[in-house]
Parts: sequence; C-alpha cells; structure tokens
Amino acid sequence: MSQKNPLLIKNGFVKDQIQGRDTIADILIEHGRIKWIWEHKNSNIPQLPEKCDVIDASGLIVAPGFIDLHCHLREPGFSEKETIESGTRAAAKGGFTTVCAMPNTIPAMDNVDMVKWVLNSASENAVIRVLPISAISVERKGEKIVDMQSLKEAGVVAFSDDGSVLYDVDLMTNALNKSRDLDLPIIQHSEDPMMVGNGVMHDGKIARKLGIQGISPESESKIVERDISLTARVDGFLHVAHVSSYLSLEHIYQAKKAGVRVSAEVTPHHLVFSHESLMGERGSQYGWPSTSQGSPIWRVNPPLRDALDVNSLIDALKGDVIDIIATDHAPHTLQDKSGSFSSALPGISGIETAFALLSTTLVDSQKIEMKVLLNKFTAAPASLLPKKYRDDGLGTIIEKGIADIVLIDPKRDWIVDPDELLSKGKNTPLAGCTLKGMVIGTVYGGELVFSDGIRIVNGV
Ligand code: DOR
Repeated sequence: MSQKNPLLIKNGFVKDQIQGRDTIADILIEHGRIKWIWEHKNSNIPQLPEKCDVIDASGLIVAPGFIDLHCHLREPGFSEKETIESGTRAAAKGGFTTVCAMPNTIPAMDNVDMVKWVLNSASENAVIRVLPISAISVERKGEKIVDMQSLKEAGVVAFSDDGSVLYDVDLMTNALNKSRDLDLPIIQHSEDPMMVGNGVMHDGKIARKLGIQGISPESESKIVERDISLTARVDGFLHVAHVSSYLSLEHIYQAKKAGVRVSAEVTPHHLVFSHESLMGERGSQYGWPSTSQGSPIWRVNPPLRDALDVNSLIDALKGDVIDIIATDHAPHTLQDKSGSFSSALPGISGIETAFALLSTTLVDSQKIEMKVLLNKFTAAPASLLPKKYRDDGLGTIIEKGIADIVLIDPKRDWIVDPDELLSKGKNTPLAGCTLKGMVIGTVYGGELVFSDGIRIVNGV
C-alpha cells in the first residue's frame, strides 16, 4: 500500500461524458483511486485529509485519461523504431493512460508466451497501461487462426492482423464466430491486397499529377462491405480500423442501423489531411509552413484521401457512425521514411500530437465541440474494452474508479519539434506547425507520469 499523501486536483474544469459532468470541481485521489469529486456548485464540501499534495488546475480541462485502441509499440523486433518504454512515455505526453498495442511485431504477437512477454515488459518499462492485441492468424500469415480462447485468458483485448488484411473469407468467418463467444472484437485492416496492388497513395488527381501509383477507395470499402455481411451472418463483433473513405461509411451506417455489432475508428491524420498535402500545402489557414512536394512523410496506410472523404469522416465522427479516434501511432526510423515516396515505409508518429492536432483543426474552428472530441478519446474507446476495465472506471472519472486523468491547457500554443517528441519515431508531418491546446499533465493510477509545467505542492 502506498505511503504517499493523497493528491488533490483542485479548481479544474472537469469534463466527463459518462458522469455528465461539465463543471468546476476538486478531485481527491487516494491509493491510486478517486476518493471523492466535489463540484463547486454543491455546498457540502467533503472532508479533506489532514495532509495532501495539491495540483492547482485553475484554467485547465480535467478529463479522463485517454485510451488508444490502436498503436504500434514495436516491441519485440523493432526497438530502433520504438520500445514499450519510449512509446508509453510518448503516449503519456499525448494524454493517454491506456494504449492497445498492435501485434505486427517480430515475432508476431500470436501466442500466450508472447502476450506474457509484452505484459511483463510493460510492467517493468511502461509508464501507463498496455493492453495487448493478438494477431488473428498465426504469424499474421492469414493461413491459420490463433488459439483465441487461450489468448483471451492471457489478457488480450482484441484480435487484429493490422498492417495486413485477413483476406480469407473462411478464416474471417471463423474468427468472427469466435469473437461473438469471446466478446472481443476482430479489428480488421480493410485493404484488398489485389486492389491495392503496387499503389502507395490515394488514386486521384494528385496521384496522376505526381505520377505515383494510386490506391482506390473501393479497396477499403469492398472489404468493409464483405466483413459486415460476414459479421451479420454469425453475430460477430467487428471493429473497422482507420476508416479513410466515405464509401466505407455508408456500409457502416447501414450496418449499425440494422443492429450489426460493428464499430469503427478514424485517425487524427485522416480527419485533417488529404492527398492535397502531397503537393506541399499542409494548412496555411493555421499558418503552417508547407512541405516539399511528394514528401514521404505523408505516406500512410490507408492513404490520405480527398476533401470529400475528410469532411465525411468528420461528419461520421459527430454522428457516431465512427465511434472512436485511434492514433495508429506508427513510429519509423528516419531512414525508413527517407528516399522516394514509393520506397518509404507507411506510417505516421502521432500519439503525442493527436489531441492537439484535433483541438486546433476541429474544435478551434468549431467543427466539433471539445466534449465530443474528449468523448472519442475516453468514454467511447472504453466502451469497446472488456467490461472489467469499464467496471474499474476507465474512460471516466468516478468515485472508487482508477485515477487516470489528463490535464489540458486549452489555450496553450506549442510548435511541434520532432526532436522534442518522446517517441523514437520522429516521422511527424507536423514539424514546425503551431498547435493550440496542450496536454500538460497525465495522472496514471494516481501518479503524475507526465508533466509540462504542472506543479505539485506537497503536504498541504
Ligand atoms: O501506415 C501504417 N503503418 N498503417 C498500418 O496499418 C500499419 C502501420 C505500421 O505498422 O507501420
């Protein structure tokens, strides 16, 4: 049991969708859990302990710690790109207290020993909670389904061959069948490899102009359509990763209306950037400098699509056709991202900038409300995790719940400097861009695991 003083976070603007709280309040944390929450508008002030440590959160948003259902921590196998330690430090800087780690590691996370290894390494090296996602197929080869039951017992929260689609219809049906019994989602990377071919960017006018091979939006929507029909047939549990095209949205919308158990995520980069970014124009309306034409920094799977897709994704997020924002944080070395657009590896390092990018481009420009944005990082992803995590208070701030909390200064400006990212992946397309809204403190299980200017006054 911790001998530490209780921690009081006072005067913050507490925003919490699940409790319906949007007001100034004090929060007392003891032994890693929330002891009480006092809304200032209520007259009966709860008893303060004799001694406590205090964070004055005046002027700050105080929200549940963010949950990322889709990120790449790269261990084992790619520690030059990221480690569980560097990735979780970066995540904490981005306001996350829970991250789900994708299994496209080497070896792939496809068996109980590997899951144990990741959980053990996380208990030693991670600064926040790491929940492993298992591969769906052995070695992610798309040939044989993993032992899903024992992987669930070992602690995985979902199954995905992310980076590749699970293409085989019989295997996908089989996996969806098990997803129903295990009550864990199959996260599909929806890209038809036959249709993608050698494509590396969105198939459209920019691809033609730059002479780069395109990827059609149908390569995504056809798989989404197929998987939804399989899910409906077996009452499965499908989660569509990184939706990029408006064509997919129609299928997801109809499926939800028909009661099919399907959820979907969108990444920050697909909500903000389009294939036009490859021409160098990044966001002059925000005063952001341009990038070089055809820069490989923009290469990502699925590709950045066109303005219609971006606007449809924003609408779908607001209308709950898309349930959550997930970062798809994909750190790479500078070497991986250098050379030509076509030879660079796909992926964006985005876990540190996810919230601020969207607070700048969507909230500040009044496209979505702050409470909607926060919900998509907190309560919404929590609803897709196993019940025991929700019962523990993840995604909300509730008495007796785990004290996972983010402190945000909504007015603070900062300029993204790749050298200052805690991630080993410096592959951000936001270098030199000013963002507004900054995570300045992250509390995980009652401990301040990230701080940029948060002062704790001890033993008051
Ligand atoms: O751009 C991407 N990079 N998309 C993915 O689905 C995988 C990821 C990676 O692992 O680098």
